[in-house]
Amino acid sequence: MEPSTPVPPRVRADSPNPITDLHRYREHHGRATADPDGFWLAETRLHVAWQTLPTVGLQGSFHDIAEGPLSWFADGTLNVTESCLDRHLEDRGDKVAILWEGDGGEVVRLTYRALHEQVCRAASALRDLGLRKGERAIIYMGMVPEAAIAMLACARIGAIHSVVFGGFSAEALRDRIRDCGAEILITQDQALRGGKTIPLKQTADAACEGESHIKKVLVLQRTGVKVGWTPGRDVWWHDVVPTADRDHEAVPCDAEHPLFVLYTSGSTGKPKGLVHTCGGYLTWAQYTHRTVFDLREEDVYACVADVGWITGHTYIVYGPLANGATTLMFESTPTYPDAGRYWDMVERHKITILYTAPTAIRALAAQGDAFVTQYDRSSLRVLGTVGEPINPDAWRWYFDVVGEGRCTIVDTWWQTETGGICISPIAPATPTRAGSATLPLPGILPALRTPEGRVVYGPGQGLLCIEQPWPGQARTVWGDHERFVGTYFGMFPGVYFTGDGCRRDTDGYYWITGRVDDVLNVAGHRMGTAEFESALVSADQVAEAAVVGYPHPIKGQGVYAYVVLQPGAPATDDLDAQLNACCRAAIGAHARIDRVQLVPGLPKTRSGKVMRRILRKIAEGQGDQLGDVSTLADPSVVDAIRAGWVDE
Ligand code: WTA
Repeated sequence: MEPSTPVPPRVRADSPNPITDLHRYREHHGRATADPDGFWLAETRLHVAWQTLPTVGLQGSFHDIAEGPLSWFADGTLNVTESCLDRHLEDRGDKVAILWEGDGGEVVRLTYRALHEQVCRAASALRDLGLRKGERAIIYMGMVPEAAIAMLACARIGAIHSVVFGGFSAEALRDRIRDCGAEILITQDQALRGGKTIPLKQTADAACEGESHIKKVLVLQRTGVKVGWTPGRDVWWHDVVPTADRDHEAVPCDAEHPLFVLYTSGSTGKPKGLVHTCGGYLTWAQYTHRTVFDLREEDVYACVADVGWITGHTYIVYGPLANGATTLMFESTPTYPDAGRYWDMVERHKITILYTAPTAIRALAAQGDAFVTQYDRSSLRVLGTVGEPINPDAWRWYFDVVGEGRCTIVDTWWQTETGGICISPIAPATPTRAGSATLPLPGILPALRTPEGRVVYGPGQGLLCIEQPWPGQARTVWGDHERFVGTYFGMFPGVYFTGDGCRRDTDGYYWITGRVDDVLNVAGHRMGTAEFESALVSADQVAEAAVVGYPHPIKGQGVYAYVVLQPGAPATDDLDAQLNACCRAAIGAHARIDRVQLVPGLPKTRSGKVMRRILRKIAEGQGDQLGDVSTLADPSVVDAIRAGWVDE
């Protein structure tokens, strides 16, 4: 499986990216390792618009993380919108900042000057609605420019945004509103995606029902549908933003002031609100965006993620805008109106850098090459992928068919927690290999460990950890630092544990193998098995449930549910639909169970712990390779489960 011939890099002399070859990469990595403070202070002082330049680098360490969050650049002050907007006005005022392509193909170009004005007006409007520095605002929107404008407007005030992906349900939205104590909710009447409407305002209303937290709901009109209205609480965007004050001074924030809270799923319990702070996050966002993608002034850069996920935060909004790039926001899907949509956009907008996910690449590859080849892709230079392991076949299709063998593929490994890319080729310095995220960026010291904590040196396989802090990492979990410490530093004290498994080859290249915990990655959407299980047991007829992932050819992972019904509860024909409705209500439209198997009981140890290893094996179709099941309280249950395996 391991391809032996690395694809040679293409070096360009005019690159503003300092890392143009492997030699330079090693030199930068070495410096960032030996002198992280010096390296990152120099980087941030040069590339971030500080109001007060920082003089200190890292304070704190992974060893004393339990005592409190670590910090970077603690004596500096800034407002991230000055890096993303104000400083570009002179040289790039007329350059397109946001290039928006709507669901139906409509295009809006917002220059840096126009974006600056809209962000200032939105910030003034939010201030007039009562939003203050340090307070939280939830943004529950589709992929419209106003979503980015709302994020930046919060940042301008020093308020903390929490974007909730538009697919999440009312219940999930309510949980997040409560957890972060948001008082303002920004939404739209409906979102449009793939020709379908998504009733965001209706869901937001349901989330706010009986809640006293939310004082104001700011509503953007996207489709013009009639929506429910709560007088005194609800305010139209078009009534207040265009007339709000054009000037809004950027509020100074300490480097460690929170910029946003973003919720993500873990192995247990409800999603955690990861906190990213202004100085370190922006430093990492702009650095990684500029180097990994080898950004040029004339680039048309397109990350086709959703702003509801970390990829959208870092690589649609903050990274590209801090770098003065033209960043595309895409409202639709890769297959609407047909599987040529991305390549049609590449031709029309002359996109030079495209960043997408393996699940989209696999889905498009399955539709045949003609959808790609009928469009001119000669503008493309760098092709990125993120979100899940990319299988070598999909990588090659991306390289050969989409990129015509000319483009550098950057397979970028990172997480909500890491803030930005951590392991990835730097185009065009790093020779690539199909299926490998290649090498750690400067500042990242990965280590593979055995479950017992022993470090694996040289080639080998293990649990992926990072040994040294870097500026972009999340500082804590909102309101629960103990949970942050327990989740990420509990496994190996003094070391950040990612939750991923990984292999390292003889050249030191990293090959991510996927999650080793109870986190599912379905079509790049991160969800906890515990969230599914709690949704399932909320159904009256369900006594117990266990959910695991299994390999899926397009989505990467599918969701497999083992369900024990209540005694006497009938297995009705619409059971699957009912169970899926529970998951949709608890989590959202993206939480779909692919296979349901009714079982007489779950395999448990004598102490009552569900043996998920066994359930995973059976779901994967390897029920004949279970190994030792003698520790089970009732081994006969395994035969029954094996016999009922659902494989379609
Ligand atoms: C997975 C998305 C393999 C990984 C940015 C990680 C990847 C989780 C890659 C984080 C990649 C992300 N190769 N696996 N290039 N990128 N992952 O928080 O399992 O939504 O832990 O952040 O996605 O998902 P999250």
